[in-house]
Amino acid sequence: MILLKEVDGHMRIAVLTGGGDCPGLNAVIRAVVRKSIMHYDWEVYGIKNGWAGYIKGDYEVLDLDKISGILPKGGTILGTSRTNPFKQESGPERIKENAEKLGIDATVAIGGEDTIGVAYKLFKLGMPMVGVPKTIDNDLGGTDYTFGFDTAINIATEAIDRLHTTAESHHRVIVVEVMGRHTGWIAVWAGIAGGADVILIPEKPFRVEDVCDVIKRRHERGKSFSIVVVAEGARFLTEGDSDGSLIVQDAQVDEFGHVRLGGIGNVLGREIERRTGFETRVSVLGYVQRGGTPTAADRVLATRYGVKACELVKHGEFGKMVALKGNKIIAVDMEQALEMKKVDMDVYEIASLFFG
Ligand code: F6P
Repeated sequence: MILLKEVDGHMRIAVLTGGGDCPGLNAVIRAVVRKSIMHYDWEVYGIKNGWAGYIKGDYEVLDLDKISGILPKGGTILGTSRTNPFKQESGPERIKENAEKLGIDATVAIGGEDTIGVAYKLFKLGMPMVGVPKTIDNDLGGTDYTFGFDTAINIATEAIDRLHTTAESHHRVIVVEVMGRHTGWIAVWAGIAGGADVILIPEKPFRVEDVCDVIKRRHERGKSFSIVVVAEGARFLTEGDSDGSLIVQDAQVDEFGHVRLGGIGNVLGREIERRTGFETRVSVLGYVQRGGTPTAADRVLATRYGVKACELVKHGEFGKMVALKGNKIIAVDMEQALEMKKVDMDVYEIASLFFG
């Protein structure tokens, strides 16, 4: 534990949301503001549009009125961006200058690997930072769950339920492409919950022949439809290649070095139809997985994270991220978030009992 300083008395803290939005961001903001104002008598400045706003000095003062009614709202009232200050001219210096100009004593950065990664670098440059882990992908190390994931899997599960009835009526194979970046958390959790017949994830590259064999066997035992859930980052294996290939929408990388994933569903659907002769359709769930109101579980997790983040600030525990371990909210070093958390293969084994 790094204890930089004990903070007493009045403080002015900043809060920002960075990276892709996700359900529960507003619940964290609400909890941070409420705990700061009501419990500690601090002021809270909301930085607009993630690190982009910090670079520009774009902010609004968050009072109790501003957070009233935002708990069930999806997205983020602060706006977000995928701006990487370390790729902008004098980005970190401008952030430090703005924090000083605004009299910010500490910053709560709510985000995924990229946002927490920037917060960690700024912490190492001397800025007091606390992280809150968000992402529908649930791929952050150091925490059992990120908020946003529960909502995403509920949306995906409902979609799979709906796709079942149309697949069955038309005797079709339906391929459902879900998000998740380079991990298969959404695919496995929603796939189990929705009773998928095949689940394909980045952690286990696959051969199209094997997928077709599973579907054919299922049809041989009298089932005239199948649901295949594929994670956007799942990898096709070809002869002599043990890593597999990704399908990307855009190979150009963003400021954090990410390609834009997506498109594997259509490639796979075409191959399944060609090889099996079964009529196949594809449904790409896309951004609906990220939008809209958070589930009760995400609202509670986000609220607990927001309150704990303020407590870390209060105790001067900077360079830390709040995290869920079992049923406890704890503090871990931010660095831990940067290690990608892959799907537990024991759970994938359970999912695969239901394939075919
Ligand atoms: O990290 C969340 C996520 O929705 C991923 O599942 C997806 O690959 C990515 O963000 C999409 O990013 P963008 O919003 O930049 O298109």
